[in-house]
Amino acid sequence: MNIDLYERIWMWGAVAIVVVFLTAIGISTFAYAVRPPSHMETIDPATVMQDPRFATPGVQIQPDGSARVTIVAMMFTFIPAEMHVPVGRPVTFRITSMDVTHGFEVTGTNANTMVVPGYVSQLTYTFAEPGEHLVVCNEYCGVGHHTMSAKVIVDPAGATPAATVVTP
Ligand code: CUA
Repeated sequence: MNIDLYERIWMWGAVAIVVVFLTAIGISTFAYAVRPPSHMETIDPATVMQDPRFATPGVQIQPDGSARVTIVAMMFTFIPAEMHVPVGRPVTFRITSMDVTHGFEVTGTNANTMVVPGYVSQLTYTFAEPGEHLVVCNEYCGVGHHTMSAKVIVDPAGATPAATVVTP
């Protein structure tokens, strides 16, 4: 079969583009753990603070040493604005919005989710090193968007205040 030279160039070009795209998907999936949402939980955005799941935002240390962080996002702040979490233990962030769509990105990590009113976003991340991470809202949410931030402080082993420990 005789294929014209230009036809062949375009053909291999198309194959190359597909290979590049598949490689990009593979790298983002396996190396950067970029996943589509799999957690589906709804909430009434008008009554977030009365909802027992979000009535007491903050960090709760579980009996196994892991942490559960409950966060409410609103224009233009996160509650709480500062979270102390343990190093080397799974930290599950649960976030919802009271008003518009926000973002929740823990800088320096791949912990990053949209926060959509009416839904609870949940992700689990284990911090390997103690330190401080800036949390930013990365979805434009209004005039104060650029001021919307918080802080995750990863405490050295055994340093998380005992007051936040939840007894079973
Ligand atoms: Cu909240 Cu941008």
